[in-house]
Amino acid sequence: MADFEVHILSDLQALSRRAADVFAREVLQASSARGRFAVALSGGSTPRRLYEMLAAEPFRSHIPWSKVCVFWGDERCVPPDHPDSNYAMAYAALLSKVPLPAENIHRFRTELGDPQRVASNYEQVLREFFGTLGEGYPRYDLILLGLGADGHIASLFPGSPALQEQRRWVVAPFVEQLGAYRLTLTLPLLNEAHHLICVVSGEEKALALREVLKGEYRPEERPAQLLRAARGRVLWLADQAAASLLERPG
Ligand code: 6PG
Repeated sequence: MADFEVHILSDLQALSRRAADVFAREVLQASSARGRFAVALSGGSTPRRLYEMLAAEPFRSHIPWSKVCVFWGDERCVPPDHPDSNYAMAYAALLSKVPLPAENIHRFRTELGDPQRVASNYEQVLREFFGTLGEGYPRYDLILLGLGADGHIASLFPGSPALQEQRRWVVAPFVEQLGAYRLTLTLPLLNEAHHLICVVSGEEKALALREVLKGEYRPEERPAQLLRAARGRVLWLADQAAASLLERPG
């Protein structure tokens, strides 16, 4: 895998703290450079501690929340108050606890029902926010990702036709591994971001992390290998358990 940076932290708490420090730094940097900070949050369970930290001091009063515009990298096809909803998790852990204007929260409108309709509606929301670019892709200030034990990122799973999508910004693939539709940003958007952070925690991710970072380039099987930050490097934040199969530097 090409240029990336790996920071190994002792545990999930330390990993979340490092991610919160990077998040806060990027908010301040983007706000002064561009007047706003557009972030696509990750779903799953790993980022929950990070979101809780951002909602508490010192981050809560340090971050200019009115400048923060929140999106999601992917979503499940469930209502926004469903326990599996990535929006619901972030809302409970963070968004309900900070003075972020409601109009700055851009969730997938899963209540529209048909996954393809939800995906095209979300793409419309992005085009309105980022401007309908003739060509090229919208540029988030930060996209936060988790890593699946099978090497997936967002809802871009091994073997999915969504891995090849270059035209649409948002798609709704049927995920064989889950027997369900998912909603996801496509790879060109992930790779266009100013900053890409992938947070990985736990023994169960150790093999995937090693294969993605050190294994043969087999992106169909390890979609995370398709991450190619166009503007810099992918920052991998892993705890020792997840990094246990990476050779120690030096
Ligand atoms: C989702 C996520 C997904 C997640 C990984 C890791 O909707 O589930 O976007 O890509 O980040 O599956 O999930 P955990 O953090 O729960 O291990």
